Amino acid sequence: MKLRFHGPITDVQPVLPRCRNLWQQLPARYEGVLGWMDCMEATEGYLQAVKDKAAEWRAIADTLVVVGVGGSNQAARGVIDALGGDGLRIVWAGNTLSAWELQRILRELEGHSVVMHVIAKNFETLEPGSHYRVLRNWMEQRYDAQEMARRVVLTGTEGSRLHEMAVERGHLFLPFPKPIGGRYTAFTVVGLLPIAAAGLDVDAYLQGGVNMQKLVEETDDNPAFRYAAWRNLFHPQGFDTEMLVSFEPRFERLARWWRQLFGESEGKDGKGIFPAYSMYSEDLHSIGQYVQGGPRCMLETFLSVEDDGGNMPVPADRESRDGFDYLEGRDFTFINRAAEEATLIAHGEGGVPCAQFITGKVDEYAFGQLYYAFMAACAVSGCLLGVNPFDQEGVEAYKRSMFAILGK
Ligand code: PA5
Repeated sequence: MKLRFHGPITDVQPVLPRCRNLWQQLPARYEGVLGWMDCMEATEGYLQAVKDKAAEWRAIADTLVVVGVGGSNQAARGVIDALGGDGLRIVWAGNTLSAWELQRILRELEGHSVVMHVIAKNFETLEPGSHYRVLRNWMEQRYDAQEMARRVVLTGTEGSRLHEMAVERGHLFLPFPKPIGGRYTAFTVVGLLPIAAAGLDVDAYLQGGVNMQKLVEETDDNPAFRYAAWRNLFHPQGFDTEMLVSFEPRFERLARWWRQLFGESEGKDGKGIFPAYSMYSEDLHSIGQYVQGGPRCMLETFLSVEDDGGNMPVPADRESRDGFDYLEGRDFTFINRAAEEATLIAHGEGGVPCAQFITGKVDEYAFGQLYYAFMAACAVSGCLLGVNPFDQEGVEAYKRSMFAILGK
C-alpha cells in the first residue's frame, strides 16, 4: 500500500520521530485499552473457534443476522459490503431504533435458515440490546432450544449479563476483548466471525493487518505516521474538515468505519478534525462544487485502487452519434482512473491538500492493511491533537439522557 500527497505540500518528515515517540508512549499513557496494537494478540487465540463456527453455520444456514452498533459492526460490514463472499448472506441489525427498519429486517429473514451473532461490549446499549430481544423471540418461534444453542453466538465482556445468558442458553460465547474499545476491534472476534461466515479469507485479512503492523513497528516512514503527521500539519492552518473519498463505491462502508473511528476518537475537548466522506464520481456532481469552490478548510483523503478487478470496455456505436465515440474501446477502469487523476489535479491546484492511499486490489489483504494503518494513524493523530483517542464521553452523555427519558 502506498501513500502519496498532492496539492499544497507540507513536509511530514520532521514530524515522524514525534509520531514514533507518541506511538511508543501509548502503553504507558493508555494502559488497558491497547489490545488492538498487536493483530494476532487481538484475536486472543479465538481464530480457530471462529473458523469452526463459521463452517458449522455455513452447513446449516443461509443467513447470518449480525446484531451490533458502532464499533461492534462497522469493520466487518466494511469488508463484507465491499467483497461479498460465497458464504452466508449477512443481514445487519442492532444499529437503529426505527420500527420500520426493524420490520424490514424481519421481512428479510422470513423464509431463510437463520443464525445470529450478537455483539455488545457492555450489553447496555439500547439498539443491540433491544434488537437482540426481538430477534431472539423471532428465532425461538422457529427453532427449539437445542437448535438455538448452536445457531446463536454471543460476544460481550466476560462476566456481563450477556455472558451469563450465553451460559444459561448453551450458546458459544466469544469474549469481546476487555483491553479493546469498539472502534478498534477490526482484528478481534467482533470483526472476524461475520467475515469468516460470509465466506471471506480471514487469514489474508489478518495478514494485511500483521504486515502493516510490522511496517509501523519497524519504520517511521510508514503510511500511518505520515498520514497522522500530514493531517495535523494542515489542521492548525484552518483545515478542520477531512473528507474520505473514493472512486470505488465498494468502499462506502469502509468510509463509514473510518468516519466513526476518527470522529469518536478525536472529537472532544473542543478539538478535532470533522470526518466526512463522499463517493466519487457521483458526488463530484454535488459536493464536488463545495470542495473546489468553498472555503479552504477541507482535507481530502483518496482511497485508490490499482486493479479494481473490473473489465468493461465501452462498446462501439457509431450510428447513434451520441457524442461519446471518443470513449470507444476504452475500459471503464481506465476512464474511472482518468476521472480520479483529473480530480486530484483540480482539487490540488485549487488549494485542497490531498492524501492518496493506493492499494493493489480490493481484497481481504487490502482491508487488513487499511484498517491497521487507520487505527494506528488515529491513535497517533489523537495524541498529536492533544486528546485521548480511546474514550467517548460525548456518546456516554447522550446515552445517559436517553436512559433518563426512557426511565431506565
Ligand atoms: O467505539 C466504541 O466504543 C463505540 O462505538 C461502541 O462500539 C458502540 O457504542 C457500541 O457499544 P457496545 O458494543 O457496548 O454496544
